[in-house]
Amino acid sequence: MTAFVRAATPDDLGALEPILPAFLAPPYKRGRFLRALANGEVCVAEDRSAVVGFMWLNEFFGHRFVNVLAVATDRRRTGFAGVLLAAAEANLPTDRVFTSTNRSNASMHAVLARYGWSRCGEVDQLDPGDPEVFYVKRPSRSP
Ligand SMILES: CC(C)(COP(=O)(O)OP(=O)(O)OC[C@H]1O[C@@H](n2cnc3c(N)ncnc32)[C@H](O)[C@@H]1OP(=O)(O)O)[C@@H](O)C(=O)NCCC(=O)NCCS
Repeated sequence: MTAFVRAATPDDLGALEPILPAFLAPPYKRGRFLRALANGEVCVAEDRSAVVGFMWLNEFFGHRFVNVLAVATDRRRTGFAGVLLAAAEANLPTDRVFTSTNRSNASMHAVLARYGWSRCGEVDQLDPGDPEVFYVKRPSRSP
């Protein structure tokens, strides 16, 4: 695996389409994602110039927040989420970075545990019956 992370542009949309999670399909969310792409809020991971994953970063109470992280189905379990999360942890505006995922998303919980993130809370009533679990990482305190 030779991974390279760079800022995405609207020209990457075609390569991103097969990787976009279904929850970004509703028109409002898709429109918001397209604006994020144009605004430089999205990074892609490439392997030999092919886009294999992406993350969408934004702000959460003044801290960086990994809003969406996804890797192409056929490229999973080869460390690309780790490469993207390492990029999210670089050059932070504050001493910590946050993310969240549904309680039901076992693979994302496993990823966050693997890369040293800590659970820090839960919010009900976003997806009924499937609370949003929040995680934090303070890179300077990591082993
Ligand atoms: C979650 C996701 C981004 C992980 O990407 P990935 O590139 O496969 O993750 P990595 O290869 O970096 O995984 C690192 C470690 O996390 C753990 N892990 C990852 N996926 C796992 C799974 N499905 N089951 C159990 N452990 C898992 C393992 O410890 C893995 O190391 P290993 O492969 O050596 O055992 C990917 O599954 C995905 O795109 N899912 C759909 C979108 C999504 O749900 N995103 C999160 C919410 S926005």
